[in-house]
Formats: sequence, C-alpha cells, structure tokens
Amino acid sequence: MVIEDQCQKPQGDEGREVIKQMGEHHRELTIWGLANIPKTSAKEILDIGCGGGHALKLLALKYPNAKCHGIDISETCVEYTKEYNKFNIQWGKVDAQVASVESIPFPEESMDLITGIETYFFWPNLEQAIAHVASRLKTGGVLCIISEQYFTTENHSAMEAQCVKYHMHLVENDEMVKIMEDAGLKAEYILDSDKGWVTYLGVKE
Ligand SMILES: C[S@@+](CC[C@H](N)C(=O)[O-])C[C@H]1O[C@@H](n2cnc3c(N)ncnc32)[C@H](O)[C@@H]1O
Repeated sequence: MVIEDQCQKPQGDEGREVIKQMGEHHRELTIWGLANIPKTSAKEILDIGCGGGHALKLLALKYPNAKCHGIDISETCVEYTKEYNKFNIQWGKVDAQVASVESIPFPEESMDLITGIETYFFWPNLEQAIAHVASRLKTGGVLCIISEQYFTTENHSAMEAQCVKYHMHLVENDEMVKIMEDAGLKAEYILDSDKGWVTYLGVKE
C-alpha cells in the first residue's frame, strides 16, 4: 500500500511504522493544540482517529481524573494504541476500540472533551460528522480539532495538491467555525501562523 493511503487508514506492518512516525511527528503539534483547551475538570474524554494512542497517553497525563477513550477505523491503530497505553489500560484509565466518527459507540451527552488530531479531513461528510460528534458532548463540553495545516492565500494551490495526494478534504478556517456553530457549538480557532497549525475549539451551549 502506498504511504498516502496509510495515513488515511494505517494497516499491517507498514501501517505500524506509519503510526509510529505519525505519533512522533505530531507530538509537538498535539501538545500545542491540547494547551489551547480551556480549563476543564474533564471526567470523560474521547479521542477520534486516535492513531497509535499517542494523544491518549498525553490526555491521561493532562487529565489524571479522566477516563480517556479512543476510536479509530483502523484495527492496526487500535492494537497499537492498546500496546502503547498498556499500563493506562490495565489501570482502567484508557480504552480503545474500532469505530468511525460517523457512529460513535458512546451515548449522547456523555463526553466532557472530544479531540481529533490530524484526522478531520478524512471524515466522510464533515457537517454530519461534526453534528454527530457534538451530540456526544455534555452541555459545556469541548470539541478540540487540531490540524497541522490550514488554507492561507499564499499556500492555497500547494495545499490543494497535498489534499489530492493524501485524499484529504481540508476546509477553510471560517467554514469549520460555521460547521461547528451549525452543530450547536460556540466556535473559534487559534493559529500558530509560524508553524501553519490550527486548533478549532467548540463549546457546547
Ligand atoms: C493522520 S492519522 C492521525 C492519527 C493520530 N491522531 C495522530 O495524530 O498521530 C489519521 C487517523 O484518522 C483515522 N481515521 C480516518 N478516518 C476515520 C474515521 N472516519 N473515523 C475515525 N477515525 C478515522 C485513521 O485511521 C488514522 O489513524
């Protein structure tokens, strides 16, 4: 399988190598993005598109009183997450299962915080997906979507080419805010314009 497809759904031994590299590559981005989350005493956290569980480990550290759940469409990712978070899983702090953002295996209004790191652009039908995600948040709960790339006037055509190559459906920052607001979230975005990173935050009203 070509590397471009592995990013969308890592599989097999080659997928494991991609998962490892992605986890290392996204570490600084993830720490920056999670630092943008407003102060919360979250008890139930869901990471969508959890990859190898690298963010879940950070979330378990940042929110020691929370239970951190991961979902991913890739079985290889879920296996990797379980190995990478072995002790947190034994201690009942982390769990992971195969599931898609379109069908989240947790009840409505069950989550205090939902994160998605370098994944939203792979979600089928973003509007429906975000509305479904928002339905899983408690009132006052936070959705945090972190992306290593966003459209600017300068990068538009280069970024569009990247999107074709990696099968990504990137949206404009203002469009993401509108999608989140249509889903009942009070939304904003925070940029690191030097790095080209973005965090989208939505609070359920
Ligand atoms: C680029 S990787 C990022 C993984 C991880 N969040 C990280 O930062 O290292 C994208 C992840 O999204 C997952 N993914 C893609 N489509 C998905 C969907 N519909 N529902 C849940 N996860 C999905 C992929 O399997 C993959 O693990």
